[in-house]
Amino acid sequence: MAPILSGKRIMLGISGGIAAYKSVTLASRFTQANALVDVIMTHSAAKFVAPVTFQSITQRSVATDTFEFWHDAGRLRIGHVALAHAADLFIIAPATAHTIARLAHGLSDDLLSITALSYKGPMLLAPAMETNMWTHPATMRNVQALRDWGVDFIGPEEGRLASGEVGEGRVAEPEDIFEVACKVIGRGGPLDGLRVLITAGGTREPIDPVRFMGNHSTGKMGAALARAARDLGAETVLVHAPLSVHPPGGVSLMPVHTAQQMFGAVMEQLPRTDVLIGAAAVADYRPTRSSNQKLKKSPENQVITLERTPDILQEVGTRREEGGPGPRLVIGFAAETNDLEANALDKLKRKNLDLVVLNDVTAPDSGFAVDTNRVTLFERGGNREAWPLMSKDEVAQAILQRVVVRLGRLDWKGSQSRERDR
Ligand code: CTP
Repeated sequence: MAPILSGKRIMLGISGGIAAYKSVTLASRFTQANALVDVIMTHSAAKFVAPVTFQSITQRSVATDTFEFWHDAGRLRIGHVALAHAADLFIIAPATAHTIARLAHGLSDDLLSITALSYKGPMLLAPAMETNMWTHPATMRNVQALRDWGVDFIGPEEGRLASGEVGEGRVAEPEDIFEVACKVIGRGGPLDGLRVLITAGGTREPIDPVRFMGNHSTGKMGAALARAARDLGAETVLVHAPLSVHPPGGVSLMPVHTAQQMFGAVMEQLPRTDVLIGAAAVADYRPTRSSNQKLKKSPENQVITLERTPDILQEVGTRREEGGPGPRLVIGFAAETNDLEANALDKLKRKNLDLVVLNDVTAPDSGFAVDTNRVTLFERGGNREAWPLMSKDEVAQAILQRVVVRLGRLDWKGSQSRERDR
């Protein structure tokens, strides 16, 4: 769930391309997140997907005609002016080469372009076209002009195109557009200007080219934390071991496999990090040697000797203690099966954390691969809070809300104007 979208007004423009069918999923995703979605379709878009499809999904009228009247808060208003003033975010998906060209040249010859021209808020375009159209200097120039005005772009991606050819030009997936939309709406939020680094997933320590030592972590909690930080306006970095969930969009991803690689990535980012949250399940030990060849069944291969991996949060804690540069806030997780409180308090102290989030991984509603979590917070200074059962998204949002409070950003009004730079 993305509370950032609740009650927000999304203007969804759809221009004419086969990718228009994907915007049905996009409109549904926004509607399910409690956003109010107003759809504008060009006449050619309406040839690919019937407006009634979007009407049914969004439960709101769909506009295609410049001279149509528009219902707004119980009033009948004429076309584009009312539409343009209402939106928190204007998305055009798919955005064809023609639509991009019209926007870049300030043309206003149909409802979509008129509305775009009279709109001053954040705008996100998801281009879709044949590769040669996308890479054409005219399109590149138009895209650059729009970028210079502060318009955001997502995609296009490599893939199979309408012509049957494979190349760059495929519209971004609806889930990715949705994610980047959350980021754009969250800009200027209470964590604006801060860098939040999150570790996630379970590290894999190689035994040989086909086997590894791992754990049950899916990365769900870390991905939820990254989304929550992004939606509050933070520049978010996710250093992640392999995930079994869709990685969050609008976040810088740094994929790693081993504890050593995760350690290296975090240390490299540390000087620029304001808040560090360690949600990864990092292996404590790795095989002393990993074979270059697949190990065969044999008595000498029956025993694997192990050595310690670096402890990332411990190292950060030590550096902070020694007065070196470090994040303003460091948060750890304690996934425990026994002696819960004692183990959590030990980690808080030993790793010099500001806050540790304890969860009992033996509880069926609170462990790996489930969508819920029941956690207890232990803060440096002695504060302790047991939170009720929540979804991992809600736990993540509550943790980030705590970050906002601890950094004194509760009354943050936002530093950025919602108007694009023109
Ligand atoms: N952690 C880390 N680097 C490691 C091990 C753990 O950064 N090598 C972080 C985890 O991301 C988590 C916290 O430290 O935020 C606690 O991890 P956990 O595995 O529960 O504890 P350990 O320190 O490994 O202690 P133990 O295995 O004795 O429980």
